[in-house]
Amino acid sequence: MDKIDILRSMVNDKWFQGCAAGVGISLASGISILSAIKLWRHIRHSGPCPVSCPASCHGGEKEVAYWNYKRGINLYETSQLFHEYLLFHYGSPEDVLHFDFGLQSSLDFQKRCSDLCMKYVKDDENLRNRALDVGCAVGRTTFELTRIFNEVIGIDSSLSFINACNNLKDLGRMEYKITTEGDLHEDYVAIVDPELDRNCAFFRKGDACCLPLDIGQFGAVLACNVIDRLATPVLFLERLTSLVAPDGVLLITSPYTFSTVFAPKESWIGGYVNPVDGQHVTGFMGLRFHLQKFFDLITEIDMPYVMRSTERTHSCSVSHASVWRRKR
Ligand SMILES: C[S@@+](CC[C@H](N)C(=O)[O-])C[C@H]1O[C@@H](n2cnc3c(N)ncnc32)[C@H](O)[C@@H]1O
Repeated sequence: MDKIDILRSMVNDKWFQGCAAGVGISLASGISILSAIKLWRHIRHSGPCPVSCPASCHGGEKEVAYWNYKRGINLYETSQLFHEYLLFHYGSPEDVLHFDFGLQSSLDFQKRCSDLCMKYVKDDENLRNRALDVGCAVGRTTFELTRIFNEVIGIDSSLSFINACNNLKDLGRMEYKITTEGDLHEDYVAIVDPELDRNCAFFRKGDACCLPLDIGQFGAVLACNVIDRLATPVLFLERLTSLVAPDGVLLITSPYTFSTVFAPKESWIGGYVNPVDGQHVTGFMGLRFHLQKFFDLITEIDMPYVMRSTERTHSCSVSHASVWRRKR
C-alpha cells in the first residue's frame, strides 16, 4: 500500500474513526503523520508491522497503554493514580485494605458464584429447568450451573469468548498461554469438569441490554461482574422482571467499578453524588432502587477474586454479591 492508500483505508476504517480523537491528540502532541500511520498499520495488522514492539502489544489493555504512550499521556500524571500512590505509600493498613481475605479464598470465583446461586434455588423441577448466565465470558459459571439445571444459557457480547465457550463445550478442553515476563509465556489447558454434562450448556453472542424477546423465563439469572460494564444497565435491570420466574433467584455480583470507559455517567446506577440532596448513591443502592419492587433481597456477601496476568502480577478485587428472589 502506498501512503495515499493507507490514508484512504484509515479514514474508511470504523475503528480508526472511533480513535480519530486519539490520533488528533497524537498529532497535537508532536507525533508525525508518518508515525500515526505506522501506529495504525501496526494495530490494524495492515501489512507488515512497521513498529518494533512485542507481538503481545497488539491487543486489549496493552494496546491502550501503547496508544497512551504514543500520545504522550503518562499514566503516572493522572490525578487518580497520584492519589492512589499517596494511599499506597502512606495509607494505614486499615485504609489500604478494607477486607481480610487471603488470596487463597479469592480463587475459583466463578464456581463460588454458581454455588451461591444454586444454594438458594428451590428444589422445584420448574425452577431447576433453566438458568441464564449474562456476561458469561469463557463459560465456567455456565458449565457449573449444569449441575442442577437442565438447560443453561450463557450470553456474552464478545464473539471470541462465545467461540471459546463453544469450543470448550465441544472438546471439553482448550489450550492457552499466559505471559510470564515480556515475551515469555507458559502453556496451560482449560478443562471443563468431566462430571458436567456439557450438552446442557448453550452459548450465544448477545447484548445484556437488549436480550432476545423470545428467550423465555429462568429459575435463576446470574449477572456476575457485568452490571457496571453495561452501557444501559437500567434496561437490563428492568428486563429481569420478566426473565426471572416467580420464586426464581437472581444473583448479581459487582465491584461497582463505574467508569465512563463502559457507560456515560447518566447511565450509572451508582457511584455518584445525588445532585438534589448531596447524598452518595452507591451501586447497591441503585440495585435496590431498581429491584425492590419485584424482588426480595435474600442475602448479600463480599466475594473476593484474583486474576493473574503475569508470573508476578495479579489483580485482587472484592465483588459485592446480592442474591434476590423474584416475588410471586
Ligand atoms: C468483568 S467480565 C465478567 C465475566 C464473568 N461473568 C466472570 O465473572 O468471570 C464482564 C463480561 O461481560 C461481558 N459484557 C460486557 N458488556 C456486555 C453486554 N452489553 N452484554 C453481554 N455481555 C457483556 C464482557 O464481554 C465480559 O465477558
